[in-house]
Amino acid sequence: MHDFQYKGNELYCEDVSIKEIAKEVGTPFYLYSYNTLKNHFNAFNSAFADIPHIVCFAVKANSNIALLKIFAGEGGGFDIVSGGELYRALGAGADPQKIVYAGVGKTREEIRYALKSNILMFNAESSQELFAIDEVAEDLGVKARVALRVNPDIDARTHPYISTGLKSHKFGISTGDALEGYRLARSLKSIDVVGIHKHIGSQITQTRPFVDALERIISMIDTLKGEGLNIKYLDIGGGLGITYKDESPPHPKELAAEISPILKETGCTIIFEPGRVIVGNAGILVTKVLYTKQSEGKNFVIVDAAMNDLVRPSFYGSYHSILPVNKNSDSNKIVADVVGPICESGDFLAKDRVLPDLKKDSLTAIMSAGAYGFTMSSNYNSRLRVPEVLVKGSEFFIIRRRENYEDLIRCEEIPAFLK
Ligand code: LLP
Repeated sequence: MHDFQYKGNELYCEDVSIKEIAKEVGTPFYLYSYNTLKNHFNAFNSAFADIPHIVCFAVKANSNIALLKIFAGEGGGFDIVSGGELYRALGAGADPQKIVYAGVGKTREEIRYALKSNILMFNAESSQELFAIDEVAEDLGVKARVALRVNPDIDARTHPYISTGLKSHKFGISTGDALEGYRLARSLKSIDVVGIHKHIGSQITQTRPFVDALERIISMIDTLKGEGLNIKYLDIGGGLGITYKDESPPHPKELAAEISPILKETGCTIIFEPGRVIVGNAGILVTKVLYTKQSEGKNFVIVDAAMNDLVRPSFYGSYHSILPVNKNSDSNKIVADVVGPICESGDFLAKDRVLPDLKKDSLTAIMSAGAYGFTMSSNYNSRLRVPEVLVKGSEFFIIRRRENYEDLIRCEEIPAFLK
């Protein structure tokens, strides 16, 4: 459930009229509901209340520091994948002992920053990375807590671009090589082996792939414990899907009912890395119709948001439902492509979509845009990145301002020979 609902014919976020926000901040903008964010976080967290665990929100899904602050305040930790995400998490007041760091390409500078920040653990993805972590830790005179990311070779049954748990993917160490990886980690002086990690993909709408992957990992934990390794943390990654259109993914409670018994048996503290399921349906992208046109019988609705603002439809062919901010009950339905101003045919937010006959200047809401929306946005076509707004009750707050033209060229310089 989320807090974007019609009151009469007008779409609201909690108790605030979206039209009123648009009047003040202009369009396009991302809009998040505090209530939905908090409820989603707590629904996930409480589903696993009976096992020792930490919910480490996947920062890549939405990295706005105001949102991170909400989750930190609810007792959440963070799953990070770069020094930049570490900086954001710390800036939001995260407890470093609730930060886990994944990714196949951590640089030495990033490893150093994470060690100095005393994060809970690295989820290491290769033996070369283990050597790098060991060397940097030795240099700093500290011990690095490490889990190995094991690739369980499980089909997450999701979009190929967001599936990560097959052995053909770049992620983790195969189950066949994992034992050797653990022996190597144990032999390194500045590494303290504390856990095991897996993450098989994103937008997973069934419980089966989670259970299958867990079974593989759990048989490994027994082997590792047999080797005398102290596996305290089992990090099962993220990946739980949401409803964009007609998917019916399990509620966190249903997932918990299936996997908690398996998790409990391990005696480990369980780490979860949910992203999308917390923020996906807690955010929308509000955009305005600039023009409409027909061409050879095809309808185009040209809006002021584009693929640089929300790349998911262009990149993955993702479906985002599109709602009018003001419902006009007697408007006809049309079939149209909703497109942005960017000079690419791939710049669309919806294709062949049945929509109310939206007129010039009407506001529309691109739903389920809270995850991998703003974080994947860019300045392509030198478009300014849009503001992010947070609603709480009857108030709204700008949590990231709209960029301006100076922002666009802030980091650029004309070399002397061209002046
Ligand atoms: N943990 C790790 C190690 C991950 O790589 C990811 C996502 C997560 C957790 C969070 O997964 P979630 O709970 O959000 O499914 N840009 C794509 C999604 C890419 C996901 C990358 N990794 C999209 O827009 O669908």
